[in-house]
Amino acid sequence: MIEKINRLKEEVMAVIATTPEAVEELRIKYLSKKGAVSALMADFRNVPAEQKREIGQRINELKSFVTDKINTLKEQLSAGSDAEASSIDLTRTATLFPVGSRHPLSIVKNDIINIFADMGFTIAEGPEIEDDWHVFSSLNFPPDHPARDMQDTFFIARNPVDVLLRTHTSSVQTRVMEKTQPPIRIVCPGRVYRNEAISARAHCFFHQVEGLYIDKNVSFADLKQVLLTFAQKMFGPETKIRLRPSFFPFTEPSAEMDISCNICGGKGCAFCKGTGWVEILGCGMVDPNVLKSCGIDPEVYSGYAFGMGIERITNLKYRVKDLRMFSENDVRFLAEFESAR
Ligand code: DAH
Repeated sequence: MIEKINRLKEEVMAVIATTPEAVEELRIKYLSKKGAVSALMADFRNVPAEQKREIGQRINELKSFVTDKINTLKEQLSAGSDAEASSIDLTRTATLFPVGSRHPLSIVKNDIINIFADMGFTIAEGPEIEDDWHVFSSLNFPPDHPARDMQDTFFIARNPVDVLLRTHTSSVQTRVMEKTQPPIRIVCPGRVYRNEAISARAHCFFHQVEGLYIDKNVSFADLKQVLLTFAQKMFGPETKIRLRPSFFPFTEPSAEMDISCNICGGKGCAFCKGTGWVEILGCGMVDPNVLKSCGIDPEVYSGYAFGMGIERITNLKYRVKDLRMFSENDVRFLAEFESAR
């Protein structure tokens, strides 16, 4: 009998139950009327009188041991599920923590790059601190050109060569052409600097995307088609373009491109000053002198180039009235563009 009691106790000690149903099964197995402990009680009748005291005590101890064990299991289970309920609710939405929004100039820069990437252009970049050769001389600027003037250019050093902050991303053209033979088809995004008084309409730094395509038999018609495709992808399929003759030292012939005003659809409004057109970029056929300075034979190759200001395109898309907003890092302004996408 004592052996039986000990065996039962060991059995109960080792018991594990992970669900309320399993605990209830244990209760029935050990404590119900037909359970193991009750069976021992029934056997108790046959215990010799001199052992009744000791065995009775042991059976009682076993009974309270089993009862305690089952109660403990019950408590652990309900405590566990309470804890789970309070700490992890898998159906809840995750806590949102604020992430930054993309800068409007980055949004527009990426849009521009993606449109040209779809037409086979790759990205090229160059340094913001440049020398006179890459920004001016190689691009056919005569020595007395006003753009070289202190009024326009930030010089860093003037001896032995002029070191300066680039005033346009056309310098990247030279850097790529010096190192690569055609075909060349690149867009060059980047920051440029000019010595301007800061106001709502001008800043001492801004951003440009330069484009360059050099190959055999490249014509002005190719340029026009690529720019029309760009304008319609950027501003909508109804957008029209017009090219006005212009002058840049590095292109001949040169043109400035207008798009039909995307505010009034070309009817004429305050934004386009009633003309129905707004200027968005400069372009032209790469001057043979430029090809020559970069080691490309103008008898074999021709090409076109274009350059646009990212701030200007962004203003047309999002109507930012004051250029200074772009560099003030006011998060209320920047956050507006998260939903603009
Ligand atoms: N570099 C010119 C500027 O900063 C823009 C430009 C005009 C670039 C005509 C070109 C171009 O490549 O062909 O105003």
